[in-house]
Amino acid sequence: MSLFARKPIAELLANEGSEQSLKRVLGASDLVMLAIGAVIGAGIFGAIGTAAAGQVGPGGDVIRYGAGPALILSFVLLGGACALAALCYAELASMIPQAGSAYAYSYATLGEFVAWIIGWDLILEYAVGNVAVAISWGDYFTTLLRGFGVELPVYLTTGYRTVLLSANPAVSSLMDSAPRVLGLPVLVNLPAFAIVMAITVLLLRGARESAQANRVMVIIKLLVLVLFIGVGLTAIDPVNYTPFAPNGFTGIHQGAAIVFFAYIGFDAISTAAEETRNPQRNLPIGILGGLAICTVIYVVVGVVITGIVPYTELGVADPLARALELAGFTNVAWIVALGAIVSMATVLLVFQYGQPRIFFAMARDGLLPRWAARVDAKTRIPYTTTLVTGVIVAIASLIGDAAETYDLTNIGTLFAFALVCAGVMVLRVNEPERPRPFKVPFVWIIAPLGILACIYIMLGLPPQAWTRFGWWLVIGIVIYALYGYRHSNLRRR
Ligand code: ALA
Repeated sequence: MSLFARKPIAELLANEGSEQSLKRVLGASDLVMLAIGAVIGAGIFGAIGTAAAGQVGPGGDVIRYGAGPALILSFVLLGGACALAALCYAELASMIPQAGSAYAYSYATLGEFVAWIIGWDLILEYAVGNVAVAISWGDYFTTLLRGFGVELPVYLTTGYRTVLLSANPAVSSLMDSAPRVLGLPVLVNLPAFAIVMAITVLLLRGARESAQANRVMVIIKLLVLVLFIGVGLTAIDPVNYTPFAPNGFTGIHQGAAIVFFAYIGFDAISTAAEETRNPQRNLPIGILGGLAICTVIYVVVGVVITGIVPYTELGVADPLARALELAGFTNVAWIVALGAIVSMATVLLVFQYGQPRIFFAMARDGLLPRWAARVDAKTRIPYTTTLVTGVIVAIASLIGDAAETYDLTNIGTLFAFALVCAGVMVLRVNEPERPRPFKVPFVWIIAPLGILACIYIMLGLPPQAWTRFGWWLVIGIVIYALYGYRHSNLRRR
């Protein structure tokens, strides 16, 4: 059977009600809340600073140009590009309401090999993305503790790779000064590790319980952003908007490529498809509604943050809190930092929710070992993959570096978006008669534009991101050749 064998959609839907299916407990508002939970996090509380101010290497060389106040245009550009992909996600998700998201759609449209590549690629979006978010969470948490007078030893809050890659002598000298166990330096990010494990324990309790916890945290995050906007609006100085685009279109483009991280997540709702009631109606509402709300919030936050301080001040790990502090609102800055912690916890929650469901779908198809497809008899969640994903992401967060993972997550996610846009067109040709509860309007314009937009944003990422992405795909192909190719259910039949 060819590498491009497609799994019939009817077969994808046949899992419904079987022992290896998940329980439908989520409604439209749960999905919108999950989308906001997944989207607003480290991107807006952290990466936005680099996108505005740019990034300079250790030798003073420019690694990427910042957008300046024109960051607002980066957000609008990204909102448009993501809307194109979101429409395509909505069509496929409502047609194939299965746990595997883009992986499942490509199995039905572009064939097994592409599906595997996408499944492998989605690890960059979910698991690797979460490593970046967990480390960013750890940074905010450590800073807050310091505010309470609790100082954790720096070797317990800084991962090994951060020290290894740092150009800052104060950080890199930790390699020599850290305590050693069996000759190895102890350089770990304990807060990042702990939050991922805590989230994993919560997820093991069930989808409904996780959605409820998410709802409370999303409300807190929205309140905090409203506070930031409300207070910030009173402190805008129009002088800060000039020059508006200090690095021209290059800055807007490269700024968009980094702050794209802030948009990732609306698509994660599609991994909840198999646990959604009336998915044909609720999934498009969740995906498109979530994206629309977040885009509006981002544009307003962009206007406020570049209005209260000169954009050159924003190149820090906690730009929102820093901007308020510089404007004299120290107490509000403290509340916003607390809000950042809650916000990032929800991102972790939704992504830690999504990744196991993709692994689960891949294992159910035989592309990953069978044990990964086990469903807990009582909670009906993919128990094994939830636990395994939790442990792997927690360990990676313990020793990883955030900057290293941002770009990789962005490029991987954009690639998945582009393939989803392609998948919609393929399925329109191959199965024109199949019922489509939600249809992309003007599909022959929207879907190709979506692909072009994704490629364009990918081109704004530095060459290193492309190299790492290339290696990631090579490793995936080798694993497929050694395992999935032989064990695939479709192929064995
Ligand atoms: N969009 C998510 C965040 O910004 C990944 O944290």
